[in-house]
Amino acid sequence: MAIPSSKIIVCRYDPVVERHHPVPELKVNYGVHVTEKNIEQLRKLNIACFPVRYGEQFYRDVVKRDPKLTILAYYADNLIGAIGCRVEENKLYIMTLCVLKPYRRMHIGRILLEKMLEVAAADESLTEMYLNVQTSNECAMAFYSQFGFEKDAEIRNYYRRLEPNSCFVLTKDLVAFRQQRAAAAAVAAPIAAPAPVAPSPAASD
Ligand SMILES: CC(C)(COP(=O)(O)OP(=O)(O)OC[C@H]1O[C@@H](n2cnc3c(N)ncnc32)[C@H](O)[C@@H]1OP(=O)(O)O)[C@@H](O)C(=O)NCCC(=O)NCCS
Repeated sequence: MAIPSSKIIVCRYDPVVERHHPVPELKVNYGVHVTEKNIEQLRKLNIACFPVRYGEQFYRDVVKRDPKLTILAYYADNLIGAIGCRVEENKLYIMTLCVLKPYRRMHIGRILLEKMLEVAAADESLTEMYLNVQTSNECAMAFYSQFGFEKDAEIRNYYRRLEPNSCFVLTKDLVAFRQQRAAAAAVAAPIAAPAPVAPSPAASD
């Protein structure tokens, strides 16, 4: 059955803009786990940030999953950002990543993604991280390209109620990511200090 055009949402994501101001310093707490007590806050955050609605089952599953797969960003007791993933065989799928509008461009999304990349790198069974992004969401593509995500397939008719209804699949190779990290760590490792030289015997006269 065709969806009435009134039900179709044309969403306007943030425009792609150059940074004009320094990143403000904000004391954000990334250490709170997702639980049944704060899941309602996550639901409200997602409603504020995404044109798609996730159902009750989605949030029940979030609470049941390994808490490492959801990272929350709290500022002054308010949930202002979050990333949520699920494991699909050997891949880590980013279901949602968002930051409340007034807090964007403060590198909160960056920190959330970097923390999740650490989680992904620590699990050797994972070979890829991926997500779907609406083809009109150029801001998210500018964001993810910073972290080495690459455009893969385009899926048409992916969204039922959004215009455009197609998405890109963005992927990141986690095997290559681990190798790059290991190489960078080896370069950064301090060069072994030379063995101490034994003091020469005092000259006798
Ligand atoms: C995408 C999103 C999570 C980015 O969060 P954020 O905290 O504002 O992003 P950051 O400040 O960490 O940005 C990191 C880098 O990404 C790039 N970037 C982020 N937003 C950008 C924009 N609007 N234009 C151009 N580049 C952008 C920049 O290179 C930025 O670094 P810089 O600010 O030093 O130049 C946020 O815009 C958002 O919640 N969007 C709505 C939900 C969404 O589309 N999610 C993605 C699909 S899951």
